[in-house]
Amino acid sequence: MSVDNASQPIKPLRIAVLVSGSGSNLQVLINAMQAGALPIEIVGVISNREDAYALTRAKDANIPVAVLSHVAKGKRMGIKTFETHANEQLIAWQPDLIVLAGFMRVLSGSFIDNVPAPMINLHPSLLPVYKGLDTHKRVIQAGERCHGCSIHKVTAELDAGQVLTQAVLNVDINDTVESLQSRVQKLEHQLLPWTILLLAKNVLPLEANNTSSQIQTYLPKLPLQLLIDG
Ligand code: GAR
Repeated sequence: MSVDNASQPIKPLRIAVLVSGSGSNLQVLINAMQAGALPIEIVGVISNREDAYALTRAKDANIPVAVLSHVAKGKRMGIKTFETHANEQLIAWQPDLIVLAGFMRVLSGSFIDNVPAPMINLHPSLLPVYKGLDTHKRVIQAGERCHGCSIHKVTAELDAGQVLTQAVLNVDINDTVESLQSRVQKLEHQLLPWTILLLAKNVLPLEANNTSSQIQTYLPKLPLQLLIDG
């Protein structure tokens, strides 16, 4: 993809989104795509749950979906089978970028190494702290004053790939797990489109070894942080 300049419109980034739940982050991307506010085309959505509301959002927007439910007719789909089908589907859609937006299955190293496009994950903590699950609860229990969300490259080690961007908030003394989750989600809804815009414009590096871009010479050290206190 070429670097944007004033006279040349940038080619839409083809995005595949993996989801497991409500899909509020997917909805933000759908809205931005439909409004022409982001140079993206969502080429497909994969869900590992057939009851994920994200599927309704995708179908309402006429986006192709693939349901690779990990429990179908009482039978569990093993991660290997899931990954084989997911990889075939991704190859068919030919995305430039794969976005894990609330995708809750742990993927294997061999799947991650062989997917047909770079993959990023949205995680509800200020990585590298609070990897894994129940981040809001653990942040409150630890009495942290700062919290937020991160977008990082997906690597074989869980939640450990290079962090590209973060959005930060101050934890309020009265925050509960629910209030913190809701406040962090509001940040996510700004961080995800902002990050994808930076990727689409080639400001942030998509490829593992893409460190030579002229623009990156002028970037501050990663992660870029959005300071929003909502
Ligand atoms: C988001 O808050 C995201 O940070 C979290 O799931 C939620 C999905 O919300 N992801 C993880 O916990 C990944 N480890 P959504 O379905 O409404 O977009």
